[in-house]
Amino acid sequence: MRDFIVPPEGLIAPPEVPQPNIFPIEWRCETPKLAEIYERAKLEGFNPATINWNELSPEAWSDDEKVAIMYWWALLSNFDSSGPPVFARAMIRAFETHEEDPVRKCFFSITRDETNHEETCQRVIQRLVPAGPQGFTPKSELQTIALNHIGWLYHNGGRYWSGFNRAVNKYPLAILFTSFMMGEVASSTLFHGMSRATTHPVFREIFSRIGRDEARHLQICINLLEKQWPGLTDADRSFVTKQLRAGFVFLSMVLWEPPNQFWDLPPNFLHNHRELLRVAREAGLGVLTFDQQADNWKLAIARVRKLVERWGIEFPAIPELDIEGVDVGDISAEDIIPVF
Ligand SMILES: [Fe+2]
Ligand SMILES: [Fe+2]
Repeated sequence: MRDFIVPPEGLIAPPEVPQPNIFPIEWRCETPKLAEIYERAKLEGFNPATINWNELSPEAWSDDEKVAIMYWWALLSNFDSSGPPVFARAMIRAFETHEEDPVRKCFFSITRDETNHEETCQRVIQRLVPAGPQGFTPKSELQTIALNHIGWLYHNGGRYWSGFNRAVNKYPLAILFTSFMMGEVASSTLFHGMSRATTHPVFREIFSRIGRDEARHLQICINLLEKQWPGLTDADRSFVTKQLRAGFVFLSMVLWEPPNQFWDLPPNFLHNHRELLRVAREAGLGVLTFDQQADNWKLAIARVRKLVERWGIEFPAIPELDIEGVDVGDISAEDIIPVF
């Protein structure tokens, strides 16, 4: 015998949840391919704590070499450490706009992976320079310059974060995805190249593991765009063109050399930066040369270009690499969304 009470005029309907809101909860799946990638992410991800850190022996290098190698990891952390908060915010956005469940889950998996990449930067830095990246006392000209540069890099990272924060809610998710795509393509090629160039087994393992994650992030971006691109307006498309240029401007700092846009750097930065990277390269880190990096970028850009042109999106001009395309004007901090 059940004892419910139903008023004669019927049940009172619950109020509608004002949107955007993460409620009501539902688990729609429109893109099974994304659900599949999410399952793969659970298995393929790695635990930075299980890398054989003892093998990365600080005695193998001079103090200057250790700081030069650490400098590159601090440079990488300028990008990889913005990954977790950027994707976490994108994930919240995906919940609030009621994206299908696999989209939300994939964003979570990228947040997870990027936290692993960030932890890897942290572990390498603190193994080589225990008070790094900024808490150590420099004991040579190279170390003083490296410390100064890390401050400048983080200053620019901070400008990126403020811009991203103001921008994130202004753009449809499809635009955010395209912006991320430039980062994912570029980073998967970067880590692949570095895993071949490094002479150290621990760095090789790290680069190939991170590279595999980045390749998966790229697949996520491509699948999302496949799904979203028919809904893009002409304005969205030209905005994406600008974002591709923004990706080049922002990511060139770690992938090649920064162009004369966005980056706020003191005189001689670039000269000394090259010198620091040369020391790190000669110590076996695996940093590619200027020309190898340019080729790497060209390859990555050709891949992105092919992808976006399929969706009727024009490509921006990248005169720095002799790539022709649309002139998108100046790029400021507010324009830059891409991360690794
Ligand atoms: Fe990534
Ligand atoms: Fe990453």
